[in-house]
Amino acid sequence: MAIRNIRLEKDEILKKKSREIEVIDDKIQTLIDDMIETMYKYNGVGLAAVQVGVLKRVEDGEGVRVLINPKITSTKGEQEVDEGCLSFPNQYARVIRPKEVTVEALDRSGKKIVIKAKDLLAQAICHELDHLEGITFVDQMIPGTLEIVENQKN
Ligand code: NI
Repeated sequence: MAIRNIRLEKDEILKKKSREIEVIDDKIQTLIDDMIETMYKYNGVGLAAVQVGVLKRVEDGEGVRVLINPKITSTKGEQEVDEGCLSFPNQYARVIRPKEVTVEALDRSGKKIVIKAKDLLAQAICHELDHLEGITFVDQMIPGTLEIVENQKN
């Protein structure tokens, strides 16, 4: 396992769309292990593969849920929340996210899973799935709500 470098805001790769994973091979398993280690190292709530420079649809979130080729199949309600991103250190903004989402994906063994999430997990899933489309939270923020926090421990 290895800690991978997190791509930061100026990196154009963050605006690119990730590709679907066709085969969950050893390379993908290593990527997943590295992403989990990297996410913990930087105290993230979630991480998308693009953030470590790989345009593949892998996302891992709270409680270490690994989602491969995730798709949101339904959403319910709305929540206005504070959000940040490991690719945007020390920056936070208000974002409107669904209150609940249902997402279909494959787990790391290739089994189809359906997750019904709400509150923070729904927010995290939406945030990470946006990354797979090349969208970051600053594209989604409520205008005028961006805050820069100095001396944040990372
Ligand atoms: Ni992010």
